[in-house]
Amino acid sequence: SGPTLFFVDWEGLVLRCDLEKGLEMRKWVLSGILATEETYLSHLEALLLPMKPLKAAATTSQPVLTVAQIETIFFKVPELYEIHKDFYDALLPRVQQWSHHQRVGDLFQKLAGQLGVYRAFLDNYELAVETAEKCCQANAQFAEISENLKVRSPKDCKETAKTSLEALLYKPVDRVTRSTLVLHDLLKHTPTSHPDHPLLLDALRISQNFLSSINEETTPRRQSMTVKKGENRQLLKDSFMVELVEGARKLRHVFLFTDLLLCAKLKKQIGGKNQQYDSKWYIPLTELTFQGPEEADPLTVPQVPDEELDAIKVKISHLRSEIQKEKGSKVIDRLRKKLCEQESLLLLMSPSMPLRLYNKNNGKSYSFLISSDYERAEWREIIIEQHKKCLKATSLTSMELQMLTSSCLKLQTVHHIPLSTNKDEDESSGLYGFLNVIVHSASGLKQSLNLYCTLEVDSFGFFSNKAKTRVYRYTTEPKWNEEFEIELEGSQTLRLLCYEKSYNKTKQNKEDGDGTDRIMGKGQIPLEPQSLQGKDWQRTVIPMNGIEVKLSMKFTSREFSLKRTPTRKPMGVFGVKISSVTKRERSKVPYIVRQCLEEIERRGMEEVGIYRVSGVATDIQALKTAFDTNNKDVSVMMSEMDVNAIAGTLKLYFRELPEPLFTDELYPNFTGGITLSDSVAKESCMLNLLLSLPEPNLVTFLFLLDHLKRVAEKESVNKMSLHNLATVFGPTLLRPAEKDSKIPTNPTQPISMGDSWSQEVMAQVQVLLYFLQLETIPTPDSKRQSILFSTEV
Ligand SMILES: *[C@@H]1O[C@H](CO)[C@@H](O)[C@H](O)[C@H]1NC(C)=O
Ligand SMILES: *[C@@H]1O[C@H](CO)[C@@H](O)[C@H](O)[C@H]1NC(C)=O
Repeated sequence: SGPTLFFVDWEGLVLRCDLEKGLEMRKWVLSGILATEETYLSHLEALLLPMKPLKAAATTSQPVLTVAQIETIFFKVPELYEIHKDFYDALLPRVQQWSHHQRVGDLFQKLAGQLGVYRAFLDNYELAVETAEKCCQANAQFAEISENLKVRSPKDCKETAKTSLEALLYKPVDRVTRSTLVLHDLLKHTPTSHPDHPLLLDALRISQNFLSSINEETTPRRQSMTVKKGENRQLLKDSFMVELVEGARKLRHVFLFTDLLLCAKLKKQIGGKNQQYDSKWYIPLTELTFQGPEEADPLTVPQVPDEELDAIKVKISHLRSEIQKEKGSKVIDRLRKKLCEQESLLLLMSPSMPLRLYNKNNGKSYSFLISSDYERAEWREIIIEQHKKCLKATSLTSMELQMLTSSCLKLQTVHHIPLSTNKDEDESSGLYGFLNVIVHSASGLKQSLNLYCTLEVDSFGFFSNKAKTRVYRYTTEPKWNEEFEIELEGSQTLRLLCYEKSYNKTKQNKEDGDGTDRIMGKGQIPLEPQSLQGKDWQRTVIPMNGIEVKLSMKFTSREFSLKRTPTRKPMGVFGVKISSVTKRERSKVPYIVRQCLEEIERRGMEEVGIYRVSGVATDIQALKTAFDTNNKDVSVMMSEMDVNAIAGTLKLYFRELPEPLFTDELYPNFTGGITLSDSVAKESCMLNLLLSLPEPNLVTFLFLLDHLKRVAEKESVNKMSLHNLATVFGPTLLRPAEKDSKIPTNPTQPISMGDSWSQEVMAQVQVLLYFLQLETIPTPDSKRQSILFSTEV
């Protein structure tokens, strides 16, 4: 069944039927109908339960409600109950004594003939809800009753669930909008030769006329007719999005139909299974525009510090590894609940790209925050495209809006909030590790442009921007040849976006001008473990509306990404023991470290994301070679390079040390020391361990530490907190060299997140963070004596 709602395409109805299978299916469809009817009856019963005592009280001296109020609120409910009870009682024995010749069409025909009662109910519905609301406000006793109505469970008559009057009053609305869907299902499995067939067709015709008549009746209240009779309102796109409402982030589910955009909220699940949407607002497409009075109404996006997002990510990876460890134990549900909370928080807090929509008609504006420009562009494109086709204004009555909202549950294509806890067990868990991507070139451009690309990957279930090439100016054939290293966390797709840089100064007030750059093309490719794992560079082409971008990719799983491999070139500096280098150089701190730090202190302290943003890999390789070959021009080279490449070179140096700066030997001591809970014991233990490091390691570390603290002092500008720096440098400085590298026995099998991996990384981050936060740590030029003194107090 397609997204057909209350405008059923009569002629288009296709009846396909495999005779025997169809007849078997008929029984299943009918059993399903019986079950829903049973539930529906229990709802109506629950609704009727308080009616009799209320009526009895109405004639006493202490009435809860007046007779008129009762009649308004419960209008036609007893009649609806009678109709459905009769229907159910007649259908049940026929399904129980099933044969392929069993006839049920007359029952459906009769039920359709009684739809007039629904019309009366629907006409009164708004008034009933309003009256109930007023009565609740005026009368505490009724408020208590209406919040605590008991519905018996159809399976077990003793079990009951609590629900509200409002929810129950909505049930008939819901039921009637689904009446044609049920008939469609049944007809699909009834052969045309079956005596039921003409009866069911008749019932469908009546139901359909009924539903479109509700629609027609409301026409005078509209500006014009929306959708011609016989046409379908179809769902084009839906997804979860974050809406900014008066500065607060709210999770919404947004539905784009052929004639309107509906923003809804998934109601909290009280009883478990029964989800429901609440509509928040809608804009008819004819009234929707992206251009609003921006100057009069500037948008301020509340920024969440990276540190906070990182802290959430750390918690998530911690919880995930806990869950792996505790498989099958009782605490798992509690852990999963916590994981779900943290992932929801991340989903809500991380998006920061605004998508603003305006309603021309009433001047209202709405803002969504999106983490992927790809998705933002998709929404814009599909709305603009549909905008061209949709010429007539839509206006929904509150009734129609309710019906449309209730249909969203059936229509939705995105069923779960993108959280790992909502994923099915057998769903691919994606890749963990590092993806090196070289963006080579683009072809197929019609005119000379200033072009750059960005790369997005999904992690923790949603997409975000990971890297950006530089702008290649005035060309139809840009050749970037830039390499990026992107961390993958459960990633399944790589997306590429191509932008034309806008140098229009009049629009520069927006944050770094990105908002004005035009998307020239976008494309995506799946990251398949089978084709990426255990392989070398792979070339690929991403086609995007007329443009083609050439890429190379190489995946390194986490197990290998920080492997320390001693170099075969003993005269170099990369991969050579730090003590050999300082001895050869007759220095305390290797030349490469001093040079890089000097350059970064000179011009990188205010660079946003310094040490975090990946530098251009080709520049890093060039610098590495220059240092390894003791090139005299290295400082000239450095002064001309992007400062992120220098930061990247420094990180690479520490990462490739054959032994970590904190040494293999003392690694267990450091990670053990950090777990001490007594702060005095911890400080003396940690400082003593630090002092046990070989001299070049100690002096180099203190030199670096001093620099990193200065970087963090400029956090308000460069956005690098001590925590961010510890995340970047922790594994680089501490991760031990592996004695025997673990070669996966089956390289085609996706390597999932190792249990201990995130635990280990967290310990490494904690150790570094401890030293970064310690105020009494001596500066590199102080004497070793003074360090000893401070720990032996
Ligand atoms: C710059 O932007 C303004 C405002 O949108 C526009 O009027 C103007 O034509 C643009 N200039 C160029 C050179 O594109
Ligand atoms: C590190 O731990 C090992 C094993 O517990 C111990 O033998 C050694 O003395 C410790 N080293 C330092 C410097 O504390």
